[in-house]
Amino acid sequence: MIRLAEPQDAQQMARLSRDLIEPGLGWSWTPKRVLGSLQHRDTCSIVADTDRPVAGFAIMEFLDEHAHLSLLAIGEPHQRQGIGRSLVHWLEASARTAGIGIVYVEARVGNQAARDFYRSLGYREMFLMPGYYRGREAAIRMGHDLRKAVPFSA
Ligand SMILES: CC(C)(COP(=O)(O)OP(=O)(O)OC[C@H]1O[C@@H](n2cnc3c(N)ncnc32)[C@H](O)[C@@H]1OP(=O)(O)O)[C@@H](O)C(=O)NCCC(=O)NCCS
Repeated sequence: MIRLAEPQDAQQMARLSRDLIEPGLGWSWTPKRVLGSLQHRDTCSIVADTDRPVAGFAIMEFLDEHAHLSLLAIGEPHQRQGIGRSLVHWLEASARTAGIGIVYVEARVGNQAARDFYRSLGYREMFLMPGYYRGREAAIRMGHDLRKAVPFSA
């Protein structure tokens, strides 16, 4: 089940970010920062519940002409079950409704699994961003043109 994230989810979301997205970079998405993001009016945060709350989560920021997928992580026991794809499709459907034409996301350049994941969803690798992560690691910027994509239907 996908639902909107609630303040009590912030701790688990932050832990998933620390353990799965930020290893080796330091913990920047602390519970306090995640909570701030949940309360931000231009941000949509969702979680996937399975046998346990917050099997995975995603945070998307909605700007005027594009959206930015800020964070996405699925707990290891729940990976490769289509949860990441469902979360991204849910947020992309919301972005389309909001009249947004393109979604951007960055992945650590060495995170081949994430790069393959986004490519499988129609994202194209655009350019390298050296030092994007605390000056220590490059990111690859990826983008998905929603105007060219077939709308998602559940
Ligand atoms: C990357 C991540 C979000 C994918 O989520 P997921 O729920 O496991 O992915 P899905 O089951 O929805 O996979 C959809 C498709 O993406 C591709 N994919 C997913 N994981 C992959 C991997 N490890 N290697 C290669 N392709 C992969 C496949 O094409 C897959 O379809 P298939 O299973 O039918 O072959 C998840 O592995 C994760 O949280 N990783 C750690 C954190 C992270 O890297 N976040 C993203 C960067 S911010």
